[in-house]
Amino acid sequence: MTIKCTNKVALIGTGFVGSSYAFALLNQGIAHELVLIDMNKDKADGDARDLNHGLAFASPMKIHAGDYSDCQDADLVVITAGANQKPGETRLDLVEKNIKIFKGIVDEVMASGFNGIFLVATNPVDILTYATWKFSGLPKERVIGSGTILDTARLRYLVGEHFDIDTRNIHAYIMGEHGDTEFPVWSHTTIGASHLSELIDMGNEDIQKKLDEIFLNVRDAAYHIIERKGATYYGIAMGLARITRAIFNNENSILTVSSLLQGEYGQDDVYIGVPAIINREGVRKVVELPLNEKELQQFEHSSETLKKVMETAFS
Ligand code: 2OP
Repeated sequence: MTIKCTNKVALIGTGFVGSSYAFALLNQGIAHELVLIDMNKDKADGDARDLNHGLAFASPMKIHAGDYSDCQDADLVVITAGANQKPGETRLDLVEKNIKIFKGIVDEVMASGFNGIFLVATNPVDILTYATWKFSGLPKERVIGSGTILDTARLRYLVGEHFDIDTRNIHAYIMGEHGDTEFPVWSHTTIGASHLSELIDMGNEDIQKKLDEIFLNVRDAAYHIIERKGATYYGIAMGLARITRAIFNNENSILTVSSLLQGEYGQDDVYIGVPAIINREGVRKVVELPLNEKELQQFEHSSETLKKVMETAFS
């Protein structure tokens, strides 16, 4: 008797990010089946073999290399394929190359009969998630980008380090483009249940300088890592695994992902990093935080930046 495995992931792109994500899924026991798809079939096959050798130390999981036809009954297709940043390049510099690559990928996935959820990680992630939504014709709730999940994790880590508090007790968001125009939402940052402004004097120049420095380190983190080791992958892979878990476990967790705005935050027709409730349906709802005036302006600027790039990219 053949039993249909639930929670099947098809991963497209087994480069550094994709293979680190596969390793995170295996280690955390998140999916029942994982298909690895890559232009370089040997790489996908080699990764599948290598990962399978870890099964003795993990939960049961079916891992194999495959092709686009394997997306047909996948619950989640994760795309990490595409060109990535070279030192000195911004994420937005990749747009033209990667939109072309995405047209091919999404068309192939849809041709398989896929009817699940897309999770996109390739940069510029907000624009490529929008492209995936357009090319696939799937409802917006089922097309999600990794957005600012990693930037938010970076912020929580650095704030936690500064106050010497467990990162998991830091509740803070980076919103906007996953890129140079992102911004920190200090007005809704809490440590445990205490609001940041109750713990520190937000008007104090030294403290403000420290918070600004923390944010710059978050915003430029990828540049710092790429300069040192050529690419970033462990952090984003764990962020993707976190989103996958929220979907498969129907968690209704609030995560900062790239989601399509249709009126929220006064924005329309743009995929951008916002807190959103994630469950088995994908994005249940975008959470609309009452941002202060500065944050609203930053959001507007970030959104306009993405829209300008999209105008050229899709023309
Ligand atoms: C990162 O932020 C490069 O987008 C990737 O690590």
